[in-house]
Amino acid sequence: MLPSTAQLRQTGGRKLARIVFDEPTIANRVRELGREITAAYPEGDLLVLGLLKGSFIFLSDLVRRIERPLQVDFLVAASYGEGTESSGNVRLLYDPETELAGKHILLVEDIIDTGKTLNRLVALLRQRDPRSLAICALLHKHIAEHLELEAAFVGFDAPRAFLVGYGLDHAENFRHLPYIASLT
Ligand code: IMP
Ligand code: MG
Repeated sequence: MLPSTAQLRQTGGRKLARIVFDEPTIANRVRELGREITAAYPEGDLLVLGLLKGSFIFLSDLVRRIERPLQVDFLVAASYGEGTESSGNVRLLYDPETELAGKHILLVEDIIDTGKTLNRLVALLRQRDPRSLAICALLHKHIAEHLELEAAFVGFDAPRAFLVGYGLDHAENFRHLPYIASLT
């Protein structure tokens, strides 16, 4: 159910336009991604690294669909302020405590837009000498001019609209929505 008008007034004036991916569609795709990831990895340590905050719901659903031993940690980077345009100023606010060397690293991202965030993180993670590095993105806008590493696993090709819900925010609002919606 869409939030009431009263709830929408608390969200900085932006309203939901339409649901782009509903709950069952997301659940089915996440189950498939879990199967793809399970099948793709050989023996060895798998560390699933969630990029916070946007990936928190996707990551928690996804890891429960991966049927092999794995560990979970997080990265916190900030690239957007209150706007809907990528600033390219990526700051690392939290660096994983876990040792990365010798492990298969699966970096889980909510959405690939300009790719600036990922390019910065891929360069940083490669310096830690992982056994392999791959990206799993829930959404991919396919507008990035240059990607250091193309996503190996993608949930959905995304429209160019600004999307919220299922972890994605606009100025920290809308993350809790169980579906993915566009804004007016
Ligand atoms: P990029 O660096 O331009 O690829 O932006 C990546 C980050 O920007 C994502 O992890 C999101 O946090 C945010 N972002 C980009 N596009 C959207 C969107 O449509 N909705 C919500 N957040 C977005
Ligand atoms: Mg964000």
